Amino acid sequence: MPQTITTRLLILGGGPGGYVAGIRAGQLGIETVLVEGDRVGGTCLIRGCIPSKALIHVASKFDGMAHAVGGAADGIGLSATPTLDMARTVAWKETVVDKLNGGVAALLKRQKVRVVNGWGKFTDAKTCVVETADGELTIKAETVLLAAGSVPAALPHIPFGGDVISSTEALSLPELPKRLVVIGAGYIGLELGSAFRKFGCEVTVVEALDRILPLYDDALTKPVKAWLEKAGVTLHLGAKAMAFENGELVVEKNGETLRLPADKLLVTVGRRPRTQGWGLEAMGLDMTGPFVKVNARMETAMRGVYAIGDLVGEPMLEHKAAAQAHVAVENIAGQTRAFAPNAIAAVCFTEPEIVSCGLSPAEAEALGIEAISAVFPFAANGRALSMEAGDGGGFTRVVARKSDHRVIGLQAVGHHVSELAGEFCMSVEMGAVLEDLAGTIHVHPTLSETVHEAALRALGHPIHI
Ligand code: NAI
Repeated sequence: MPQTITTRLLILGGGPGGYVAGIRAGQLGIETVLVEGDRVGGTCLIRGCIPSKALIHVASKFDGMAHAVGGAADGIGLSATPTLDMARTVAWKETVVDKLNGGVAALLKRQKVRVVNGWGKFTDAKTCVVETADGELTIKAETVLLAAGSVPAALPHIPFGGDVISSTEALSLPELPKRLVVIGAGYIGLELGSAFRKFGCEVTVVEALDRILPLYDDALTKPVKAWLEKAGVTLHLGAKAMAFENGELVVEKNGETLRLPADKLLVTVGRRPRTQGWGLEAMGLDMTGPFVKVNARMETAMRGVYAIGDLVGEPMLEHKAAAQAHVAVENIAGQTRAFAPNAIAAVCFTEPEIVSCGLSPAEAEALGIEAISAVFPFAANGRALSMEAGDGGGFTRVVARKSDHRVIGLQAVGHHVSELAGEFCMSVEMGAVLEDLAGTIHVHPTLSETVHEAALRALGHPIHI
């Protein structure tokens, strides 16, 4: 028997945008229904950031042990080659995902958010019909928040299916492929490609551009490229994936045709907003390119319909979606909030890691900003050296406006640098100047001292270089 309910707020999607919005709405006393077709947690938690970081963690541990066979420089020696049971690794990774999924479900429950499990489809801007296990449920809402996320972009001539996989399948492979070919040397391709290399697979990466990680400048990507080469990952840059035939990827590179045998072909050529399959066309919203158009309050062109996260534009990052969730829900509650960050930092969990916040020196120049920048190498940082993170070309870089020393960018490449993201974001968001970074007593011995030293160097008086 079809049922109809009404609610003040309906959220479509239980990813980091939608579930954070649900929790915040509950805190603000807004009656809320959240519709999710899968488990709450979304791409990030169920089939993206978290499971990939879990696999990367195991891969690094395994690789470290493999390098200790016969004795390593730090004195650790293993007498036998370590083994890997991929099915158990994947099962362990699932326990991490389950814990977080359960945690999110409990947080929503505590805030009295009603989670409706099933695929929702809008019939007009304020009405959503959900196919639940108990039949059809129609939800009529005063206000709607769209957080439908994104899906992996497919190559039309090499569609997903069989041995052609996306990151979702790559995170749950029951056994390791002997030969993994990756299309796309972006975030996902290199994070997962590096992990599978550490697991011992033969990994080949095919990238259409003539460089890896096109979002970052050469200085930041150089250590990553050096690691890939040293680790034996075959990189084909300026190479176009043409077809997948008889277990071989056909590639065109410099006018030549290459055939690369692949047991699995991982396609990571970007993500696109999920704009199909849930009735967007019935809602009468404005679009901007492939994204739903919103203003700084996260409102769409339709009164009372808000949208956030991957659905509304780049960067498609968890923390951006969550930040937009706060803005949208607080506006729905009657507050006046705008989404206007100074910067949205990004971390790439490659080997070594890259973290970037704000402008690089080249980006500042392109915007006509006269900037000063300075780099401090990890090779001169005690903490980095003591945890074998001093080699490999890692560094921290600060970029500041020349006129007033305002910090407009902070970047780093090196082992464990993802944990520097907090200081980077805080500095750029709060409008710190170089003197603030230089005048802050940074704890010794930590990698954060490289931020202090980079600022001192930009001011012309570094201590340890
Ligand atoms: P991406 O946009 O990072 O990289 C895609 C790469 O594929 C580009 O280098 C592009 O030149 C290349 N490419 C496109 N078509 C090609 C073709 N036909 N042949 C060869 N190369 C081709 O996309 P990716 O890695 O799929 O990640 C998608 C998004 O997911 C990222 O932009 C990011 O927003 C998010 N993400 C974030 C992570 C993080 O924060 N650590 C980790 C993973 C993903």
